[in-house]
Amino acid sequence: MFMKKSLAFLGVSIALIFFFALAFRPVGASASAKFSEGNPELPDSVAKIIQKACLDCHGDNGNGMAKSHVNFGKWNTYDVKKQAGKAYDISKVLSKGSMPPGKWRKNNPDNIPTQAEVDLIKNWAKALNN
Ligand code: HEC
Repeated sequence: MFMKKSLAFLGVSIALIFFFALAFRPVGASASAKFSEGNPELPDSVAKIIQKACLDCHGDNGNGMAKSHVNFGKWNTYDVKKQAGKAYDISKVLSKGSMPPGKWRKNNPDNIPTQAEVDLIKNWAKALNN
């Protein structure tokens, strides 16, 4: 009788230890694990918009001036902090409508980011900067 009770107690204790270890594992641990696997990629939803509206100039084959600000071909070489800063700049120029530039807009009217796409990028940038 005594043995059964203490075994049950042991079982519950072990279960509780596992529960707390999982529930309260340090948040930083998973973030740094992610970091050590390489820098985050652009999410597909964001990459699609960038591809149609920005890569002409901000890709590896783009314009030197544009690439000096952001080169999406090298996005994965930017660390998390740099990505967050660039994402903030990107959401700003999209909100203002200063990128893509006016002349490009005239020549590529179908590829101008829609309001929904601008909002998507803004939310992405906000999440990275939280
Ligand atoms: C036609 C070429 C072209 C396209 C298309 C283009 N850009 Fe640019 N972008 C430039 C150039 C050139 C500069 C540098 C301007 C300067 O230094 O005065 C620049 C600068 C920038 C900057 C830094 C300037 C600032 O005010 O922070 C950001 C951010 C940027 N572009 C984002 C984008 C995004 C996002 C897109 C797509 C939605 C885009 N660009 C599309 C040519 C382009």
